[in-house]
Amino acid sequence: MRRAPGTTHWASHPSGGSLEEALRATDDLLAAARDVLDANWTGSYTRPSQALYPHQWSWDSAFIAIGRSWNDAARARLELETLFAGQWMTGMLPSIVFDPAAPAEAYFPGPDVWQTSRSPAAPRGRPTSGITQPPIHARAALEVHRHAPPAEREASLAWLRRLYPGLAAQHEYLAGPRDPGGRGVALIVHPWESGLDDSPAWDRDFDRIRVPPGSLPAYRRHDLDHASAADRPTDADYERFVYLLTLERAADYDDAKVVAASPFLIADPLFNAIRLWSEHALVEIAGLVGTDPAPHRLAATRLHRALLRELWIGERQRFCAWDVRRDEREPEDTIVSFAPLLDPELPEPIVAAICRELESPSFHARGRGAHYVVPTYDERAADFDPERYWRGPVWLNTNWLLWHGLRQHGRAGLADEIVASSVELVRRSGFREYFDPLDGSGHGSDRFSWTAALFTDLVRESRRSAEREAPDA
Ligand code: SER
Repeated sequence: MRRAPGTTHWASHPSGGSLEEALRATDDLLAAARDVLDANWTGSYTRPSQALYPHQWSWDSAFIAIGRSWNDAARARLELETLFAGQWMTGMLPSIVFDPAAPAEAYFPGPDVWQTSRSPAAPRGRPTSGITQPPIHARAALEVHRHAPPAEREASLAWLRRLYPGLAAQHEYLAGPRDPGGRGVALIVHPWESGLDDSPAWDRDFDRIRVPPGSLPAYRRHDLDHASAADRPTDADYERFVYLLTLERAADYDDAKVVAASPFLIADPLFNAIRLWSEHALVEIAGLVGTDPAPHRLAATRLHRALLRELWIGERQRFCAWDVRRDEREPEDTIVSFAPLLDPELPEPIVAAICRELESPSFHARGRGAHYVVPTYDERAADFDPERYWRGPVWLNTNWLLWHGLRQHGRAGLADEIVASSVELVRRSGFREYFDPLDGSGHGSDRFSWTAALFTDLVRESRRSAEREAPDA
């Protein structure tokens, strides 16, 4: 990517520095990131964090594999293969594959609550959750392969060949049982499937779910043993999370029954944009493994059209989550609206509209003193919360996704700001799960794997681009 001169200046950051400055002296941080990933490695996969998330999470593993592959391609490959061993016969890749070695009280809701053996499609003898997560895996597989050292290229190709059928099945599942009305966009049935559990993007829909009194068993939230209650979703949110789980469990995780009955049924722009970006990765992977890429090209074209047709709201100049159950558009201005930048064919006027919003005072408080990008929710909204989970903080994974989206649409200046902000947040607060965009303080878990992994990828890729662009000495 060619950078126009003068586009890397970054006025709003407390350091007032450029990307070049932020990237200076990152060797120690890269070594520390590697230590985090090694400490969280179990022998076959990486825990997102030791205490708060002691099992294998689906999109975490994909992000982790990308970052880890810069140093250890073999472990990155094993990470994804371990995850895919938990894939369901329907093609669904579960959001969590439970680790039998983790103590029962380590995480709630654990396998005893999910009871996925009720479904004939669940893998035997391998407890998982009964829902999915954003399908970033094909993209991750391609990135891992690209990072493979020359001596491992054959091993990496053989791995891609083994992984490809599972990746293709994952995408067929989303296009099939998760799109019962044939709208072209996949539907999620639980906020946990979005990866952005308590995002205001589905507040209206979620808030209207009534939990019948006495319908829930007593439970204790173990997450609050490991993180501050002010950083985590509220008890009221948890009640609905657990209620939805019990409905899905009562349907024995039968997709048709779950989709027909779920009071939460959302077409999420972030989930579907990731799916589209991964479908493009599948085109490349099919080519690499010697399979016909045409079905993936066709699926990508269909999804590109569906994103624009179903989720772009012209009068708001924004992609909005769609509450399909009530046929309402969720108006909250959140990070999910920007994710369609991952579509390489997004029309330029829409790219420009997204960038205007990304650079507006709602998401980029230029000139307001210390500030870090990109908050996950409109900073000017009355209920913006800079510390609580997906209700305001900056996360490295959404930064990483937007950085890719911006780069592919030639928005180098904004992409560079995201890298610089991400590096400074880690430098200031460590490998925290998320960060306060106003003061840069760290929140949630510490030594969080995907922060370490995606920090590594952002720095290594940016350094590589800078080397490519450096004028000949
Ligand atoms: N993100 C959820 C949690 O906090 C589960 O996927 O446990």
